[in-house]
Amino acid sequence: MSNVLITGGAGFVGSNLADRLISQGDHITIVDDLSMGLVENIPDSDLVDFYEESITNKEFMEDLLVKNQFDYIYLFAGVASVADSVGRPYETHQINQEANVFLMEVIRKHKLPVKKVLFASSAAVYGDEPTLPKKETSRIKPLTPYAIDKFASERYVIDYDQLYGIPTVAVRFFNIYGPKQNPSSPYSGVISIITDCIRDNKIFNLYGDGNQVRDFVYIDDVIDALILLTREDIATHGVYNVASGLQTSINDMIQAYENLTGKTLQIDYQAERQGDIKYSYADISKLSKLGYRPVYNIEQGLKKYWEYINQGM
Ligand code: UD1
Repeated sequence: MSNVLITGGAGFVGSNLADRLISQGDHITIVDDLSMGLVENIPDSDLVDFYEESITNKEFMEDLLVKNQFDYIYLFAGVASVADSVGRPYETHQINQEANVFLMEVIRKHKLPVKKVLFASSAAVYGDEPTLPKKETSRIKPLTPYAIDKFASERYVIDYDQLYGIPTVAVRFFNIYGPKQNPSSPYSGVISIITDCIRDNKIFNLYGDGNQVRDFVYIDDVIDALILLTREDIATHGVYNVASGLQTSINDMIQAYENLTGKTLQIDYQAERQGDIKYSYADISKLSKLGYRPVYNIEQGLKKYWEYINQGM
């Protein structure tokens, strides 16, 4: 039974992780300002304490960390929209980088006995550098304030391990999909948007020809990876790609979804998005060496997601 903090725990990944940890009997504290996350994502359980707060509230965060002495800390809070970071670089920097460095500093200053801090970085750090598949050692080319802050925070977190002996690990998420992903913005994950369109017979705007390739990874596989990376019997430091290791074009994903649902997605073809990356997929051998075995291909993941969407309808 561990005492766990999840910043951004009302968001897509954080709330799914909370569900899993509660089923193990862990106690979870969630800090989320609900700017992206949804209160209904938070598990309804006596094992959860929820604070509607921004991680940039230094006094609050310091107090929370010192009082609770968490075993595990998952740093998932952040402004996830790249477009938002381009529009508000300084504000999003305070959240996506500075607040995380402050938390690490609180742990250092108070010598808090944390067993592991896990920071959520992004495949965005690779930018449009063309070498594929992406390895953790591939060239980094962050092209937006979002990607720069993710990369810098990742380095800070790893450095706090190397310099001060605070156990940390960072993950670079590829394209995650599944229950609780919020489809409300045009910059939401494409599968959450398509799911919405198929369910409600809405028109989907496809940017480009649909031949762009992504490494789509189902949320349950991601949660397995996160639990693996914080297991005490496995020494994990540094940064790990978290993905499926499979390549799927948007067109193939749509085809698979249509086969599964028996529906036809109405598509409106639009110009390619500025700055869109044509091919993105991961080499997951570093994580596989620790025993990570993603179990969902795109058909299996979409099937499970679609079943969830239709629950109670
Ligand atoms: C993802 C991340 C982003 C990160 C980038 C870098 C998500 C939600 N976004 O973007 O934060 O910077 O990786 O690796 O995980 N598309 C449409 N119609 C839509 C929405 C999207 O055609 O309504 C297209 C996009 O133009 C893109 C593809 O679908 O080509 C995937 O889009 P998206 O899910 O936003 O992911 P990434 O672009 O990979």
